[in-house]
Amino acid sequence: MKTIITFGTYDVFHVGHLNLLQRAAALGDRLFVGVSTDELNFSKKQRYPIYNQNDRMKIINGLRYVNLCFEEESLDLKRHYIDLYKADVLVMGDDWKGKFDEFSDICEVVYLDRTPSVSTTQLIEVISSSDQ
Ligand code: CTP
Repeated sequence: MKTIITFGTYDVFHVGHLNLLQRAAALGDRLFVGVSTDELNFSKKQRYPIYNQNDRMKIINGLRYVNLCFEEESLDLKRHYIDLYKADVLVMGDDWKGKFDEFSDICEVVYLDRTPSVSTTQLIEVISSSDQ
């Protein structure tokens, strides 16, 4: 049984998120997804996500590619989560390329190409500017 693990915020869920999760799931038998908490996002970006963590987790949990979804409470706990869930492969988008190589002592680390031209930040900008 090959377990894949990945992490993200998945705010304002879009097709880039779906593509990433679909391709991550295809690398193994089951996919576990750490969804960052609202507080973690606030501490990182000084703003809360548009969708709260319960809704973001509900969306991720509802996907056929995802077997388990858990709260990522701190960026410093990745090693702990990889161990806890006995993950064989850590998958991240290539915006993180090289940043998680330190975990290659306990799992394989794979960076997947991002889907071009879509991001949550860009969507928020487009939606808020069309409001005015
Ligand atoms: N992702 C992707 N392609 C995109 C956008 C995101 O493959 N166009 C991937 C990221 O690389 C990450 C996961 O989806 O592995 C969750 O990304 P997240 O940071 O939550 O979403 P973004 O849209 O990148 O958000 P932001 O614009 O706020 O950075």
